Amino acid sequence: MNITYFGHSCFGVEINGKHLLFDPFISPNELAKGIDVQKIKADYILISHGHEDHIADAVAIAKRTKAKVIACWEVISWLTKQGVENTHPTNIGGKLKLDFGSVKCVSAIHSSSMPDGSYGGNPMGFVIESSEGNFYYAGDTALTYDMKLIGNYRKIDFAFLPIGDNFTMGVDNAIIACSFINCDDVIGMHYDTFGYIKIDKHEAITKFESAGKKLSLLEIGKILVK
Ligand code: NI
Ligand code: MN
Repeated sequence: MNITYFGHSCFGVEINGKHLLFDPFISPNELAKGIDVQKIKADYILISHGHEDHIADAVAIAKRTKAKVIACWEVISWLTKQGVENTHPTNIGGKLKLDFGSVKCVSAIHSSSMPDGSYGGNPMGFVIESSEGNFYYAGDTALTYDMKLIGNYRKIDFAFLPIGDNFTMGVDNAIIACSFINCDDVIGMHYDTFGYIKIDKHEAITKFESAGKKLSLLEIGKILVK
């Protein structure tokens, strides 16, 4: 699996030759201004919830790439109104079997509304299972006991967890989340993009190390091979 970080909570993950793109928010992100949005590849775009910092570039990328967009019913309804045609509406609990593997939609403790203020349904996380490995993309969420369900029934090889605090869980709760999902290999997201979620990165990595776990903070634009 090749993972490319596009800043904030946006990652490209290549699995079995298919390009998955999570929560596209690139062009408004000062930290990601080195990224050319036009060049981002996508066969699938997965959107955890409707907040601007997860959906800002979704319409443009979906129209250019014709990628299939996977999100909850309400997010898909909004995207359809913006002219996005290739979509798959889902909701928490649903599992989709796709050509690269499967996507299970899981709960996230957060809120959701669309950039124009319309109703965004419930926020979600995703569990991806494939022949190349399994991972959990948490979206925006607090620590929740529901995460135990994720780790109990399959092996999670690594997880994308929010660590910026304030709007989501922070570092200390993300370390507890590792225990809940039985996974000690974390890629951090949803930190440093704006003032409320600035973190001390060195301290975060040290805290994970002290707990016997690994936190990777990827450089924007760089590729990580898993
Ligand atoms: Ni949010
Ligand atoms: Mn967010």
